[in-house]
Amino acid sequence: MIETDRLLLRRARMDDLEDLHCVFSHPAAMRYWDCLPHDKIEQTKRFLSGMVGASPKTSDDFIVEYKGRAIGKAGCWRLGEIGYIFHPDHWGKGLAQEALRAAIPHVFESLPIDKLVADVDPRNSASLRLLERLGFTVTGRAERTIQVGDEWCDSVYFELPRPMAD
Ligand SMILES: CC(C)(COP(=O)(O)OP(=O)(O)OC[C@H]1O[C@@H](n2cnc3c(N)ncnc32)[C@H](O)[C@@H]1OP(=O)(O)O)[C@@H](O)C(=O)NCCC(=O)NCCS
Repeated sequence: MIETDRLLLRRARMDDLEDLHCVFSHPAAMRYWDCLPHDKIEQTKRFLSGMVGASPKTSDDFIVEYKGRAIGKAGCWRLGEIGYIFHPDHWGKGLAQEALRAAIPHVFESLPIDKLVADVDPRNSASLRLLERLGFTVTGRAERTIQVGDEWCDSVYFELPRPMAD
């Protein structure tokens, strides 16, 4: 568990389902995700079960709590890959940055990785800016990397090397 000024980062639990479904069923939150908004709670349940059952050898992922509610998730969901999503009611207050500034050092301590990577839709300005602010740099771009519904989307690839030991 990690506490920041405003947030609590902790492991996922199955009773996060309702709060998490509010996030994963929200069209704005899911606009640049790798699937369409969840219209059935079973879809979110599958996602959450994956988080709850994830191996600590390959994942260091957190539910983000704000004022006692789960407002999103942030962390390393698959070895070396960072992922985050927050409910739009809480965007634009620096919460994603606060969560990831706490989660990233934990990820590097917990997992045997020499870098973190991210794959972002080039239209996702908030995510591009967030990664830049966290010190990630662009390593490449590709077109038509994923189909979500009827739409083909492009990718910008980012990485953050493991910080040098002091
Ligand atoms: C990406 C996301 C997590 C950002 O959350 P947030 O809490 O609003 O981000 P922050 O407030 O910490 O802002 C981080 C930076 O991005 C900037 N930013 C936020 N929203 C922005 C927007 N819509 N356009 C441009 N910049 C934006 C902020 O100004 C800040 O930069 P600054 O410090 O220079 O001012 C949030 O928009 C989200 O959950 N999106 C949906 C899920 C998603 O797309 N995840 C990423 C998949 S790759």
